[in-house]
Amino acid sequence: MVHQIAPAPGCALITDSVVAQLYGKQARDSLEQVGFKVTLFVFPAGESSKTTRVVEAAYDVLLTDRLERRSPVVALGGGVVGDLAGFVAATLLRGVPFVQVPTTLLAAVDASVGGKVGVDHAHGKNMVGAFHHPCAVLMDVQTLRTLPKIELQCGLAECVKHAIIRDARLFDFIGANLPAIFARNSDVLVELVAWNVRIKSAIVMADPYEQGVRAVLNLGHTFGHALETLAGYKGLKHGQAVGLGTLAASTMARKRGILDETSHTKIETLLRRIGLLETPPAVDITAVMELMRGDKKVRDGQLRLILPTAIGSAEIISDARPDEIAAALEAIASPLNGGVRR
Ligand SMILES: NC(=O)c1ccc[n+]([C@@H]2O[C@H](COP(=O)([O-])OP(=O)(O)OC[C@H]3O[C@@H](n4cnc5c(N)ncnc54)[C@H](O)[C@@H]3O)[C@@H](O)[C@H]2O)c1
Ligand SMILES: [Zn+2]
Repeated sequence: MVHQIAPAPGCALITDSVVAQLYGKQARDSLEQVGFKVTLFVFPAGESSKTTRVVEAAYDVLLTDRLERRSPVVALGGGVVGDLAGFVAATLLRGVPFVQVPTTLLAAVDASVGGKVGVDHAHGKNMVGAFHHPCAVLMDVQTLRTLPKIELQCGLAECVKHAIIRDARLFDFIGANLPAIFARNSDVLVELVAWNVRIKSAIVMADPYEQGVRAVLNLGHTFGHALETLAGYKGLKHGQAVGLGTLAASTMARKRGILDETSHTKIETLLRRIGLLETPPAVDITAVMELMRGDKKVRDGQLRLILPTAIGSAEIISDARPDEIAAALEAIASPLNGGVRR
């Protein structure tokens, strides 16, 4: 398949230390079987590797092996691998073909679709990046059998996000099939992944470069990214931060009167059942708000937030007041500084 897409003598296989142990040999063998000379680049697993320093190390290995313009970069792993390898593919030799092979639920339903690639910076998550669409995304749900439960929970945070912004039926499907999802039932996982990819790709195709409607995919992410940055990308996983951020957005929408109480309760209940609200982080609310103001979604000094208006629809607002943001944060976290100065 990869060879049909990119008929070159060589290819790069980029993965992390955990996935390399589990599926590295299998992936390498299958690429070699179709005639590729494989250049392998493995980096330590975890968000803290998503840096320009690791990107530079990848350039060194790939250029030393003389990868050429037609040589594809294959990203085997979760969203960290996809984002980093995608950024390498976008920039190496001004861009080489890119194939995603997601092995986490989060990467399958979200990160591998839409072409956003990049790395983190001390100033915030994903601050350095590009748009570079994969030529193909290949997924085998069997790989989710080795995925730790917490990673499955994190992927579900993005599935719930898709359901809230676009599809009440998906919301009910997730609720009804949670035990089967946690049992890694293949049929249910295939349906879950396909359903989410349909939703995300439809939104991305309508707005490939995030000029408008695509912003709804950031539900829970402006709150979430700030929490993640403060946690130093260590204490809190992306999906956990998104789960908390989604609850913050839902809380704010209910307080504004644009979301009914029943829907808000259903959102909170599903996030809690998935296990995403177990440990509310202790955060400095003033610091979170400061980081939110520096978010990429700030336009003309106005912070834009995505708020649910029902299960199945959301809207973009740009008139959020500091006091309502602080109140939403207080609902999801235990304030370190006794709340925000108002
Ligand atoms: N580009 C986008 O549009 C987009 C969208 C959402 C998230 N993201 C990014 O994705 C990243 C999070 O992705 P993630 O949650 O997949 O994290 P991840 O890539 O760090 O994977 C989580 C952990 O699971 C391990 N792992 C991966 N597959 C495994 C498997 N099959 N079995 C066992 N262990 C496995 C990894 O080694 C890692 O330790 C964040 O950096 C986030 O910013 C990007
Ligand atoms: Zn996300």
